[in-house]
Order: sequence, then structure tokens, then C-alpha cells
Amino acid sequence: MKKILVIYFTQTGQAKSAIDASLKSFVQDSNYEIDYELISPKVPFSYPWGYQEFMDAFPENVFGIPMELQPLKINPEKNYDLIVIAYQPWFLSVCRPISSFLQTPEAKKLLNGKPVITIINCRNMWLGAQEKMKKYLKDLNANLVGNLVFPDHSSNLTSLVTVLAFELKGVKEKFMGFFPRYGINQKDLDAASGVGEEIKSCLEKNNYSSLQPKIVQANLNFLRANIMIMEGRGRAMFPIYANYIRKKGNSGNPARKTRVRIFGIVLPTAILLLSPIITIVARLTPIIVPGKMKREIAYYQQTGLKS
Ligand SMILES: Cc1cc2nc3c(=O)[nH]c(=O)nc-3n(C[C@H](O)[C@H](O)[C@H](O)COP(=O)(O)O)c2cc1C
Repeated sequence: MKKILVIYFTQTGQAKSAIDASLKSFVQDSNYEIDYELISPKVPFSYPWGYQEFMDAFPENVFGIPMELQPLKINPEKNYDLIVIAYQPWFLSVCRPISSFLQTPEAKKLLNGKPVITIINCRNMWLGAQEKMKKYLKDLNANLVGNLVFPDHSSNLTSLVTVLAFELKGVKEKFMGFFPRYGINQKDLDAASGVGEEIKSCLEKNNYSSLQPKIVQANLNFLRANIMIMEGRGRAMFPIYANYIRKKGNSGNPARKTRVRIFGIVLPTAILLLSPIITIVARLTPIIVPGKMKREIAYYQQTGLKS
């Protein structure tokens, strides 16, 4: 019997639907045993979030500063054949509960030498988080063999509104009657079951070389030029501002309130103002520097880490 471990974090259950869709073919097959481990912070984050709490989570998340977690329920000595890690990007980095887990001695034991498949559910910006994930996995001597991405497919400005309603107000359906429902969509969940069959076949052969091409073919590798360019700006700026906030103290310290508040105004304003400009730049990029965007897309379509 092959053993699969699913390590995940979710606040509202979207990650769990992505996992269930991707592993549907395994669930009723007695040849496979699946253990699920929901990573839980000792002090949970609120859902819906308060705006200040949401923005205050930014600096520690960017730097992957470990937080205290509840003890694992699974036995860290158990020898799994495949590990699945399902997570969300938070501020273009791996969400803190999962980055904290990846820095534990238990993660070292569980992941050492294992094939790993990542499942990401997000708004639309996952590249920076996944680059950090690749580094964590490399340090744990694990082998990333596939990455499925379940984004929100609305335009960048629409999902800026709907993600904030989802996170800060707990709106799970259409917002104000006309904004679309936020989150992962049924089309992607349906496509994931085909990928699940491929995962099974790879696990049986112990050869995953066909998996990532299958994921890309199933369009579960969301990449858009304008969003890639926008995320690139954020990835360059975020550590600088995160550092500036942390100079005033750790998470929750009242001394950093003003800096956090400014970030809370600057971030959505920057997205709002830059989105249309970057959409034009993204259209011009293939003309000005042909090949650059193609090379970037080709890189993010595979699972390797830039050397
Ligand atoms: C603090 C925070 C930061 C987020 N940052 C990003 C981000 O950088 N990129 C992105 O695509 N989505 C971002 N999101 C949206 C989430 O990735 C995701 O859509 C949401 O948390 C739903 O996950 P869940 O239903 O599994 O809890 C963020 C959400 C939170 C709570």
C-alpha cells in the first residue's frame, strides 16, 4: 500500500477543495492510504481578518519568521511515498503557518528525500511564494515534482476588490450583487481530477517526469504577463518595507502601528494605479524585448529552481 501525506493550511476551506479535487482518484482506492495534517498556529489568525491585523501580518510573513504551531497529529517517523503540500501565498511569500512548519525538525524527517507536489490556491500572484517554497524544499532535501495552481480568474482590479471583501468581510458569494464570487473555480477543480490520474500513474512508476507537463496542459499553471510584471515590482519592494516596519518592533507591537497603517493605504493604492499601466507595459514587452517574457513563462512552467 502506498502512503500519501497531505500537509495543508486553510482558513476558509478553499485549499481543501483543491486537494480533494486533485486526489479524487485516490480517495476510494484501497491501495492508497492518505493522512491529512492541517497545520494550525498556536494563536490562530482571525477570519474574517481585521484590516490592521491583516496588514500587520505582512513583515513576518515576507521574512518567513517561524511562529508557534500546534503539535502535529501524524507520526513524523512515518515513511510516506508522496507528500502533498497545499498552501496560499500571503504577501507574495509562503503563508506563515506553512513556512513555519517547513522550518521544524518534523518537516526535516518527513520530507527528506521525498517527492513533493505543491497545490497553491491564491488570488493570482504565486510566483514569489513558490520560489521560496522551492528553496525550503531544497534545504529539506525534498524533490518538487509538480505544482498545481488554483487562482481567482477575474481581472486584477476586480479580484483586488473581491479578495478584500472575502478576507476582511468574509464575503463568500457575489459581492454587492455584481462583483463575481472570489476564489477558485469549478473548471479548475474539474481539470484537477485528470491531473490526479497522472499523479497516480507517476506514483506507481516512481517517475514524475510527465507530471508537470500534464499540469501545464490542463491549464493549472496560471501565468499572465501583466500579473508577472506587477508581482515582480512587489517582490523587489516588499522586503524593504517589511524591514522598515520591523524596525519598530515585532508583530502586534503598537509602536509599528503607523507604519503598518501607511502600508495598508499604499498597497491597494499602488495596485490600483499600477494595474492599468502594467497591462500596457505587458502588451509592449514582447515587442521591445522579444523572448524575455517567453523565457520567464517557460521557467515558471517547470518545477526547477534558478541556479
Ligand atoms: C494575509 C493574506 C495575504 C495574501 N496575499 C496574497 C498574495 O500575495 N497573492 C495571492 O495571490 N493571494 C494572496 N492572498 C489570498 C490567498 O492566497 C487565498 O486566496 C485565500 O487566503 C484563501 O485561502 P483559503 O480559503 O484556503 O483559506 C492573501 C490572503 C491573505 C489572508
